[in-house]
Parts: sequence; structure tokens; C-alpha cells
Amino acid sequence: MSNGGIALSLSKLSADDEILNVFGKVFESYGADITRYKSAFIKRRLDRRMGILDIKDYSDYALVLKNERREFEELFLSLSINVTNFFRDSIVYDNFRLFITPKILSNLGQSGKIRIWSAGCASGEEPYSIAIMFLNIIEKLNNFSVEIIANDISKKAIEYAQNGRYPAKSIEKLPSDIITKYFHKITGETDTEYGINPSIKSKITFRTCDILSSDSKQIDAIFCRNVLIYYEREAQELILQKFHQCLRDGGYLVLGMDETMLGRKCEKLFFPVMARERIYQKVLPNSI
Ligand SMILES: C[S@@+](CC[C@H](N)C(=O)[O-])C[C@H]1O[C@@H](n2cnc3c(N)ncnc32)[C@H](O)[C@@H]1O
Repeated sequence: MSNGGIALSLSKLSADDEILNVFGKVFESYGADITRYKSAFIKRRLDRRMGILDIKDYSDYALVLKNERREFEELFLSLSINVTNFFRDSIVYDNFRLFITPKILSNLGQSGKIRIWSAGCASGEEPYSIAIMFLNIIEKLNNFSVEIIANDISKKAIEYAQNGRYPAKSIEKLPSDIITKYFHKITGETDTEYGINPSIKSKITFRTCDILSSDSKQIDAIFCRNVLIYYEREAQELILQKFHQCLRDGGYLVLGMDETMLGRKCEKLFFPVMARERIYQKVLPNSI
């Protein structure tokens, strides 16, 4: 296949959007879509990889990407940014547990079933943390159960999450009673891992899919943390509207610490109940 077209278009590039357009086509040829990601974010990743490879020209890098799948995978990995950890920003979990879970429990109908969605769950630490938090609360109460839906567009991340085995380092900051109760030690030949116990795993359904294609309904709380940050405003609006449809009336949305609803068209769809922790509540459709 000739790559001349890409080189030609890039030689005339000046604006970021044009760079994105050309790299968008390279990604498309590998079956990936970057059109909704923030252009500044993509450009930073391109610049970083080009710096490592000592490539100065975007057109040269586009050719490398087209011809070398391994380089494409390196770049793709750096874009997905699956970085996460257990109880990330613990203050958010502490305050959600103290102030939000009692409200969720008191608003549940007869079913007693709590429904949570971890959107953009990466390698699973977030949904497992949510499951641990809820199980710790409801084990002392009768008639409650918890069901967690966790999704990510990265198949690799979901496979890792489903496997539920983590290096010792990733749980070292967890309280020892949590480790004893919810993890089991797996001693390998070279390293030690910790597996999530079936009591936690069984509460979570993992799916490889895009947030926008989810058909979840009547969700009590959505954790979508450190995902919106990679997207352009237009895509953020679509995602936030989706969350509004999926939440039950009065349901909660938890964003990442660097994410905000401020200035978004759909800002009025959510009310900030704990602004510092980025915890919002769905505003009822008839009061908008
Ligand atoms: C930085 S991680 C955040 C993980 C976790 N939520 C946290 O805060 O620790 C972002 C994850 O969002 C996923 N992601 C990005 N866009 C997505 C989309 N449209 N649908 C589903 N997952 C998405 C990425 O693959 C990545 O695993």
C-alpha cells in the first residue's frame, strides 16, 4: 500500500486538527477510533513518542506508524492511559461511603438491589474497590445486595480485570483487614500476586464496550473517573447526557478530581452535592 498520500497531506500541515485528521486515518486502518479524543492530548502523545524515537516530522512518524504495528501498539497503549489504583483518591471513597451510601440505601425500592456502573474501569481496581466498599456496608444489614457493571473500551484491560490478580505492590497501601478479607495470596515462582476473592468478583459484570453503547438503566451511582478528561467537549456532553439517561432519578455521578461539569451545556442536568469530591446528583427531568 502506498503511503504517499499521508506524507503529502502532512507536508502541508500547520493546524493540530489537520494532524489529527491524518493520524485519525492511520488509526482507522488499524480499526481504532481517536476522533473524539482531545487534539491537544493526542498531540502530546505523538510528540512524546516522536521524541523517544528522535523523529522530528509528523509525516515521517505517520509512515512509521502505518508500517510498524508494534509502534502503533506502543502509541495506542500510551493513549488508553489505563492508569488506576485501588480506592484512588481515598477521600472520594470515604465521603461517598459516609454521606452518599446512606441516601442510596434509603431510596432503594423493595428490591433492595444497589446498581452501580464503573464506566471506563481500566484493569478493574475501581469496580473492585466499589464492591468492597458496598459489601463492607451491607454485610451488617439485611435485605440488600449490590450489582456492579464495569466496562472499558480496551479488551486487554477488561481481560486483566476479569482475571482479578494484582501484583503485591498494587495492594500494599490497603488496610490489612481488607486484604485478609477480600484477597488471597498467590505465590508464584518469581513473584507474589493477590487474587480477588469470589465473594467480590461475583458482584461484578465486566464488558468490553464503549460507554456510549451501554444500555444500562436505573443505575444508583455511576463512577466515571479520569475518562472525560481525554475527550473534547462535544464528546463529554454526549457521555454526560448518556449518564443522565442511565441514572435513576436522584442517582449519583462521580467524576475524577480533575474533571468538572462547569461550563458544559448539560451542567444543569446534574447538581454538585460534594463539589470537592466531584460527586453530582441527577436533576429530575421535570425540574430542569
Ligand atoms: C485513566 S483510566 C481510569 C480508570 C478508573 N476509572 C480510575 O479513575 O482509576 C481511563 C480508562 O477509560 C477507558 N475509556 C476511555 N474512553 C472510553 C469509552 N468511550 N468507553 C469505555 N471506556 C473508555 C480507557 O480505556 C481507560 O482504561
